[in-house]
Amino acid sequence: DQTRQIAETLAEFRLTQEQLLEVKRRMLTEIQNGLSKKTQSTATVKMLPTYVRSTPDGTENGDFLALDLGGTNFRVLLVKIRSGKRRTVEMHNKIYAIPIEVMQGTGEELFDHIVACISDFLDYMGMKNARLPLGFTFSFPCRQTSLDAGILVTWTKGFKATDCEGEDVVNLLREGIKRREEFDLDVVAVVNDTVGTMMTCAYEEPTCEVGLIAGTGSNACYMEEMRNIETVDGDEGRMCVNMEWGAFGDSGCLDDMRTQYDRAVDDLSLNPGKQRYEKMCSGMYLGEIVRNILIDLTKRGFLFRGQISETLKTRGIFETKFLSQIESDRLALLQVRSILQHLGLDSTCDDSIIVKEVCGAVSRRAAQLCGAGMAAVVDKIRENRGLDHLDITVGVDGTLYKLHPHFSPIMHQTVKELAPKCNVNFLLSEDGSGKGAALITAVGCRLREQEQ
Ligand code: BG6
Ligand code: GLC
Repeated sequence: DQTRQIAETLAEFRLTQEQLLEVKRRMLTEIQNGLSKKTQSTATVKMLPTYVRSTPDGTENGDFLALDLGGTNFRVLLVKIRSGKRRTVEMHNKIYAIPIEVMQGTGEELFDHIVACISDFLDYMGMKNARLPLGFTFSFPCRQTSLDAGILVTWTKGFKATDCEGEDVVNLLREGIKRREEFDLDVVAVVNDTVGTMMTCAYEEPTCEVGLIAGTGSNACYMEEMRNIETVDGDEGRMCVNMEWGAFGDSGCLDDMRTQYDRAVDDLSLNPGKQRYEKMCSGMYLGEIVRNILIDLTKRGFLFRGQISETLKTRGIFETKFLSQIESDRLALLQVRSILQHLGLDSTCDDSIIVKEVCGAVSRRAAQLCGAGMAAVVDKIRENRGLDHLDITVGVDGTLYKLHPHFSPIMHQTVKELAPKCNVNFLLSEDGSGKGAALITAVGCRLREQEQ
């Protein structure tokens, strides 16, 4: 009976092929809403123009600084790009911590901290006097009116610094640099991490016209036809659109698939009611869904001898890396128990089996939902181009994609099943989004010179 009740709970996380097709269809509807002028202001999937009009062509050249803010790590990078017959990219980078009180303090504190890290990096590289052009990977929704202006629509994930929403983050960065009165930089581009990732991968693989992040957050971008982007003037060529698909479902259109555990995670988050799809798909929240299920199963007496420990009450204990370890097929159950032990959870052998099943159910659904979203994107591109068959590459990054043993194969399989007319090649980004941000900055600098 206990086994049946646990199975029933986990069955809520199982989506049929028909349901997944429905997710794909709804995503497509939301994509159209975000692109069209009439529905744009109320659309949940915002389809933000990026002012990136092409992928790299190898002529990009120069030395650039890049910032990479919003994922697991905050990085400052120096990227040296050389064009010509033997193209090369040389990168140096340093990771800096952003303490939670800075992520959730005032905007001024956040940007002062960022500028202090840049200062340290320039000292480290011995480059304080160079006034380099800079590309800013800023992994949050920004409404752009040009390559170098982006108004933060809303914070997502774990950030909540005051006085930033509604502001141009390029300005906030420039002001931070001014306040420090120590060095000068030329901020040329603000770039979403999906876009940086697409560009990083497209430098090696020209068929890459989609970017995907399955990490702390979940999001995608792709090259859309200008004629379909009604919010930007002009009909010629293409522009990369930052979908901000994490907000898919915020209209309620996924509510029939959300469980009580999804709602609990949402209610306790920094942004209740927002980023509902992201909260079912991405690394920052999967562990929380698992934890909420475990609490419920424990309350019902099926786990941990019915005792809810302080650990189990602690938010954020199940980081992506632990979920990935628990689900690794190479681990014996004894090792699963030792991971739980390490997290402070005393488990029996039976407990560890159940925990592993719970993790599997949650991560499988995440991979399938993400795959259904991607199926909508690649089919949209195929239809845009009037093709019966599309070959395309998706550049991907993110700890969930990289570390989790089952996420990527299930996601790939789902895309294959839901978009059978597309042959999708997934290319893992090895170099992060900073390289792509530097490539975009290179083009931005060139365009500026041409205008003068
Ligand atoms: C990194 C990119 O490799 O992946 C970042 O350089 C991106 O720009 C990040 O935000 C996403 O993954 P995660 O798991 O760190 O959020
Ligand atoms: C969140 C952000 C989005 C970013 C994604 C992945 O969804 O809103 O801009 O691309 O996380 O980091």
